[in-house]
Order: sequence, then structure tokens, then C-alpha cells
Amino acid sequence: MIDPRLFSDESVNIDALKQKAYNGRWAEVEEGVIPLTAADPDFPVSSVITDAIIDYLKDGYLSYTPHTGLESFKESIARYINTYKDEEVDPKMVLPIDSAARGMYVIAESVLVPGDEVIVFDPVDYLFRESSLASGASITLFPAKVENDSIDLITLESYITKKTKMICLCNPHNPLGLVYSKEDLDHILTIANKYDLWIMNDEIWSDIVYGEKPFISILSLGKERNKKTLSVFGFSKSFGVAGLRAGALYAHEQEIFNTLVEKSHVKTTAGGIASLSQIGAMAALEKGRPWLEAFLTHLTSNRDYGAQRINAIKGLRCRTPQATYMFFVDISQTGMNSTEFAMRLKSEAKVAVVPGISKFFGPGAEGNVRICYATSRALLTEALDRMEDWVNKNLK
Ligand SMILES: Cc1ncc(COP(=O)(O)O)c(C=O)c1O
Repeated sequence: MIDPRLFSDESVNIDALKQKAYNGRWAEVEEGVIPLTAADPDFPVSSVITDAIIDYLKDGYLSYTPHTGLESFKESIARYINTYKDEEVDPKMVLPIDSAARGMYVIAESVLVPGDEVIVFDPVDYLFRESSLASGASITLFPAKVENDSIDLITLESYITKKTKMICLCNPHNPLGLVYSKEDLDHILTIANKYDLWIMNDEIWSDIVYGEKPFISILSLGKERNKKTLSVFGFSKSFGVAGLRAGALYAHEQEIFNTLVEKSHVKTTAGGIASLSQIGAMAALEKGRPWLEAFLTHLTSNRDYGAQRINAIKGLRCRTPQATYMFFVDISQTGMNSTEFAMRLKSEAKVAVVPGISKFFGPGAEGNVRICYATSRALLTEALDRMEDWVNKNLK
């Protein structure tokens, strides 16, 4: 039975977060500021994770683990993905890796050479762009215009050139909070197959989906069509374990899987995932699902409350996310750009949000800010109260 107090207002330990939560969050903002910034929950992780790590530590050994990860962990990952995401992943084709972010760099390094072009949606999380650039490729931005709660893909094919080597797919989409329909995925895969392109398929957000529109994996369209799809999954978003730096890569073809292993440097021990991270992530996958479901119930309630509050503020507008725990808020009617909005909101109203600047999401994010709601209802309410007062005073 899941403890109903897990996601209560009292469960957020701000003193601990001030010591431990970095990347634009509590440990990096000045006293009194509420950070609704990086996508990282304010709640302690499930006790199944901490118990498993403590138990592993009991005999005092922290030896090397197998180069390509603990067999039991690879099996857990495959079982979890196959159970919850209608995919058919072979544990032998799973590579545990030290973060989803690192996995994206490994994919890029495995398939790209200088001179290649990569299609990156605009906006999307900066890791797609950065991982591709690090491999010497150049980026072609595809403007991700949203029509009727879906990304309009009609012109995608016109962005392909002779040099295009890979399409990046963020499903569900950060920061737009959207999942792709089967038709959308079929469209992307048809183009990728036609031009013999790789797909970097990032499904790190696939557990944080609210159900109105289900998550569908591109891999559910069949192995044959997905020979060049390289997938990345992570645990940070689902289970609040970003500090473990744990993630996984998986593929369907042996040859490219071998290349992923080689480029990850796990065989030399220069790369690879810490034993405690594997143990913690494995416990989350094996026993953390009730915690995740309770988290989703809390998030649904915060999402509905927050979207309604934001849309009631004059000058602001946001969609109700289908997935992820971030609002992508259109602030263009305030007369401020996203940098001015975020900087002033932080200094004058003591609420930190992520500005929609190129560095984080691409140029197409301008006019928006991203607000994370994986926090308690009390903190979300206080932050929205402050934001509402501040916007009302400053609307140009
Ligand atoms: C789409 C996407 N991919 C990858 C990552 C990186 O995740 P991790 O910190 O677990 O490496 C993030 C983090 O926000 C993300 O949003």
C-alpha cells in the first residue's frame, strides 16, 4: 500500500533540497526563490530505491560490475520496456549507460561524421543539438509548429538533403508536452526509411503520460522498419533519480549495437554506469511502479490546477500537457521576451522558470517559458500566486 503522504506538502524537504538539488534548482537560487526550473521532482525517491542501495552496501564491496552492465539490470530494463511500452527489446541489445544524456552523445558518435546533417525539431531539449554538434554534424532545424495539440509534420520531408543522416525524435516531447500519434510516427518512419536515415529515439518521458492521448513508441511500428532506430531511456524523470546518472540505450541490430558499446567506452572502463546507480535504477523498475503511479496521480492534479491558473492570468497561455511535468507558457502577450520575463520574475517575484531561449530549446522557443510542476501543491500555488500578482502589475 502506497503511503498517501508521499506527495503531500509536508513531504518536500527544502533544507535537504537546498543542499542537494542543483542544475538551476534549490541549491543554486537565492533564499526565498521557488525554482520551477530543471525537470527534477521536489519529492524524495521511493524507499524501494534507497533500501536496495543500502542493502547492496551492507557487505562493504564496491567492485567493478560487468563492462556492459549487470545482466539482471539489462533484463529489468528490457522487461520494463516490453511490459509498459509495447516494444520488443532483447536484454542482450540493452546497454546501461551513465545517463540518458550520455546515451544521446553515444548514439550521435556512433552514426555521425563531420559533414553530416541532423534534423532537430525546434523547439526541443538542447541535448539533441549538442550531442549531434559534438560529433561534427551540422543541425537543420525543423520548426515544430503545433496545430490541434500535435506537431505539424507535413513539411518535414522538405528539410531532408543528400547530407541528412539522422532525425531526432523526442517522444514524448520536452518542452511541448506532447505525445505523437501512430500516424505521426508512421510519417516520420516512412521518411527515415525512404532516405535511409537513423533515428535518435528518446523515450525518457514515456512514463510521464496522462492518458488522454496514450504514449506510442515508434518501435511498436515493427522491427523491420526500425533497424536504424536507436533508442534512449532514462530513470531521472520517472523516479526522481537524476543524481544517479543512469540511463539505457537499446537497438535491434547487432552491428550497430556493437558500435554503441564501443563508442560508450564501457569496455575500457572509461565509460559505464556506477554499481549503486544500477542497483537503484533496477529497484525502481522492479518495485517502483506503485510509487510512480501515485506520483502520476499527484502530477495530474497539479497539471489540471496549474493549467487552469495560468490560463486565467491575463497575457499568459498554455496547453494542458499530454505528457511531461512542464507547462510551456506563451508569454508573448506580456510585451516581454522570455529572458526579461524569467529574470524579472525571479528577482521581483522570487519564482525561477526556464526562459525559452535558443541555448535551451532552439530559437523557436522564444516567447515562451517552461515551468516545472513536479512539486507540492502548496509550492505550486505559492509560485503561481506570486506570478499572477507580478504579471498583473507588469503587463505592458
Ligand atoms: C528529452 C530529454 N532527454 C534526455 C534528458 C537527460 O536525462 P538524464 O539527466 O537522465 O541524463 C532529459 C532531461 O531533462 C530530457 O528532457
